[in-house]
Amino acid sequence: MDLFEAIRGRRSVRAFKPDPIPDPALERILEAAQWAPSAGNCQARDFVIVTDPDVKARLAEAALGQGFIEEAPVDIVVCANRERSASRYGDRGRNLYCLMDAAAAVENILLAAHALGLGACWVGAYRDGEVMEALGLPPWLRPIAIIPIGFPAESPRPPPRIRLEKLVHFNRYGSER
Ligand SMILES: Cc1cc2nc3c(=O)[nH]c(=O)nc-3n(C[C@H](O)[C@H](O)[C@H](O)COP(=O)(O)O)c2cc1C
Repeated sequence: MDLFEAIRGRRSVRAFKPDPIPDPALERILEAAQWAPSAGNCQARDFVIVTDPDVKARLAEAALGQGFIEEAPVDIVVCANRERSASRYGDRGRNLYCLMDAAAAVENILLAAHALGLGACWVGAYRDGEVMEALGLPPWLRPIAIIPIGFPAESPRPPPRIRLEKLVHFNRYGSER
């Protein structure tokens, strides 16, 4: 799939068929995550793969009852590793770069899943503490996204985007071309 086609065609998918994801597909998705950029190449992110129904149920509960987390055959929880980044960059690594490293990996996961014919969604609305407890995360990891992935059982319409003219500024904020 052409990159621009993948970027434009990817949608948040929130309904999944029960079929499992083939291991090679999951590996390719994780490799795509691994090759995302990161500050100083610290790669301050970790990935927890969740297939256990009890753990998925706890994630769904932590995410305010978003049931598709439980329905998906796999959830990938992307975590920012504060200390891996802080060891090089101090507070800027701890409070900023690790979040960016993790977010870059999330976008690669979403695009790779789409390119493989799978559906996925970036879920960010959850109680951090409950996710951390469900996954046994140490305090230096912060969950940045729960990503349910599976074969799509819906084809959502593209939601609207704000016009580029409103978002893009030339040379100084507020200026037009
Ligand atoms: C930081 C972040 C948090 C999000 N949290 C949720 C969420 O908790 N639940 C959900 O269903 N979608 C969530 N989304 C998905 C957005 O709703 C979705 O990306 C947006 O509506 C645009 O739709 P599209 O992804 O199909 O282009 C989140 C997306 C981002 C980037």
